[in-house]
Amino acid sequence: MKFFVDTAEIADIKDLAATGLLDGVTTNPSLIAKSGRDFLEVTKEICAIVDGPVSAEVISLDHEGMMREAEILRKIADNVCIKVPLTIDGLKTCKALTSDGTKVNVTLCFSANQALLAAKAGASFISPFIGRHDDNGFDGLDLIRDIRLIYDNYAYETEILAASIRHGVHVLECAKIGADVMTAPPAVIKGLFKHILTDKGIEGFLADWAKTGQKL
Ligand code: E4P
Repeated sequence: MKFFVDTAEIADIKDLAATGLLDGVTTNPSLIAKSGRDFLEVTKEICAIVDGPVSAEVISLDHEGMMREAEILRKIADNVCIKVPLTIDGLKTCKALTSDGTKVNVTLCFSANQALLAAKAGASFISPFIGRHDDNGFDGLDLIRDIRLIYDNYAYETEILAASIRHGVHVLECAKIGADVMTAPPAVIKGLFKHILTDKGIEGFLADWAKTGQKL
């Protein structure tokens, strides 16, 4: 499973990229606002840190506006992936951009039927939002299961990018279901390294090492 980080914070992206496990980055207008940075500038910086796709989201709601914004965004770097909402205009834009060789991430997916539409429009990635689905009384992981089944039935190449991930169990279950990618906030990814028995083990080894009186 590929790991993307869901943030526009440069320090976090650099930190995770240094571990070698970062395959891409996703941003959205809320994350850009939270960073306090200029959208185009910060996207350019992120694209220089990671080789993989960096999702940058259009703001317009109409096809012409989305195409105009995508034109600006895709000039930033070769690894920019244009993020469009799952609407009729979003999918028209998806079709036009992917036919032209640009990677497109279709975002705000909350049903398997929507995911089917995105695959038919040639999306590179579909982003089902697990956490927000859970928050509204649905099972976000069931959504990932249904999309996996449908995409496999028809051998669609659109990658399932599990988004709105809130904790390690979401990551684990997505890996078991076979999501192609997951995107999570830095804290969730860093949390995957943690285990109480790892910490206790280190503590025990260090205590025993101190008893030897040796130095390395
Ligand atoms: C995905 O690309 C989105 O940016 C993101 O995962 C949304 O997550 P949230 O529900 O935690 O805002």
